[in-house]
Amino acid sequence: MGARKDGRLEGWKAFLRERLPLASVDTHLRKPLPKHINLLFSLGSLAMFLLLLQAATGAFLAFYYSPSPEHAHNAVTYISEEVPFGAFVRGLHHWGASAMVIIVVLHLLRVVLYSSYKAPRELTWIFGVLLLLIVLGFGFTGYLLPWDEKAYWATVVGVEIASTAPGLGDFVAKVMRGGSEIGAVTLSRFYALHTIWLPWLAFGLVGVHLFFVRYYGSSGTPKNTPEEMKTGKPFYPHQVFEDVVGMLILFVVLAAVALFVPVPLEDVADPTNADYDPRPEWYFLFLFQLLKYFQGPFEIIGTFVIPTVGMLLLLFLPFLDRSERAVLWKRPIALTVTSVCVVGIVVLTILGGTSKKLETTDAAVQETSQPTEQIQTETVEEGEAVFDFQLTDEEIEGAKAVEEESQ
Ligand code: HEM
Repeated sequence: MGARKDGRLEGWKAFLRERLPLASVDTHLRKPLPKHINLLFSLGSLAMFLLLLQAATGAFLAFYYSPSPEHAHNAVTYISEEVPFGAFVRGLHHWGASAMVIIVVLHLLRVVLYSSYKAPRELTWIFGVLLLLIVLGFGFTGYLLPWDEKAYWATVVGVEIASTAPGLGDFVAKVMRGGSEIGAVTLSRFYALHTIWLPWLAFGLVGVHLFFVRYYGSSGTPKNTPEEMKTGKPFYPHQVFEDVVGMLILFVVLAAVALFVPVPLEDVADPTNADYDPRPEWYFLFLFQLLKYFQGPFEIIGTFVIPTVGMLLLLFLPFLDRSERAVLWKRPIALTVTSVCVVGIVVLTILGGTSKKLETTDAAVQETSQPTEQIQTETVEEGEAVFDFQLTDEEIEGAKAVEEESQ
C-alpha cells in the first residue's frame, strides 16, 4: 500500500518536473545566505505574513460590512456581537493592523541597524518606504470604516491636515471627502481605497520589493567577510523554517490579544457633536501632538513641512548617507540621527496619548454650566489641549442640515 502511494507520488513529481522548472527553483531556494544572519532578518517575512493575514481577515469582514453611514456602524456591531467568530476575526484585523505598523517599523530599523540600504539596495529601500506609506494609508482609511465618533472626528482632522498642503491641499481634501462634507461619499471612497486600491498597490510593491531582495541577495550583517557572504545557512529549509516559527508565534500572540482584548467601538458618528475630542490611531499620535506646537500662521510647519521633509529624507536616505557600510553604533552621525528620531517619535506619541482631552474640562464645565461654545473658547484661550480644527457654527449648522435631509 505504502509502496503504491510512494509510486503515485513519484509519478506526480515526475509529471510536474517535466512541465515546470522545479529543479532551478529548488537550486535557487537552497542557495546559501550570508553568515551571521539572525532573528532580526525574519521581520520582513513577518510583515508579509501580516499583510496576508490582514487581507484574509478583511475579506471575511467584507461579507458583513456595508460602507454607508446608515449601515456601517450597525454592520460592525453585528459582526462583533452576532456573527460566529466575528469578534475574533475583527480583533485579528484590528490588532493585526497595529502589529503590522510595529513589525514594519522594526524591519526598517533592522535595515538601518546594519546599513542594509546602502548600494546596491537603494531601490529595495525606496520601495520599502513606499510600503510604509501604504501601511499607514491602510490604517488611516480603515479607521473611518466603523463610522463611530472617533472614526468620524479623526477623519475630519486628517482631511483638514491634508487641506493645509500648499497648492494642492484643498483639491486633495475635496477628493478625499468626495465633496465639501465628510459623509456617504467619503465613506465609499475610504472603503474603496482600503479594500481595492491599497491592497493592489501593496501586493504590487511587495512583489517588486521581494524581487529586489532576491536579485541582490540578503545583505547579511556588516561583519561578514566577502567569503562569508556565500557560506551561511540555505534559505530553504533553514531560514524558511525560522520564518514560519516566527509567524506561528506572532499568530498565537495576536489570537490571544484578539480573544481577550475587545476592539473599541464608540457611539455612531455624530457630525453635530463639536465637543468631541478627536484622537487618531496611536501610530499617528506623534503627528497629532506635533500640530499642537505650531499654531496660527505656523500651523503648516506641523501639518505639512515637517512630515513631508521627514518622509523625503527617509526616502532618499541611501543617497544622503554615503558612509562606509557598518553596524549603527559604529556610525556616530547615523546613530545620533536615528536615536533622536526614535526618541522624539516615542515621546511625542506618549504626550499625544496622555495629553488632556478637551472633555477632561467637562467636569469644570458642568459645574459652571456654561454653553458649549464658551467652554471651547476658554479651553483654547488657556492654551491647554489646543486643537485648531473645531467646527465653526456655520459648519455645525451645515452638518445638522445634511443630517435632517437624510432622515
Ligand atoms: C509591507 C511592508 C514590507 C514587507 C512585506 C517587506 C518584506 C521584506 C522581506 C521579506 C525582506 C527579506 C527579509 C529581511 O531582510 O527581513 C525584506 C528586505 C528588505 N526590506 Fe522590506 N518589507 C516591507 C517594508 C520595508 C520598509 C518599510 C523598508 C525600509 C524603508 C524596507 C526595506 C528593506 C530592505 C532595504 C531590505 C533588504 C535587506 C537586506 O538585504 O539585508 N522594507 N523586506
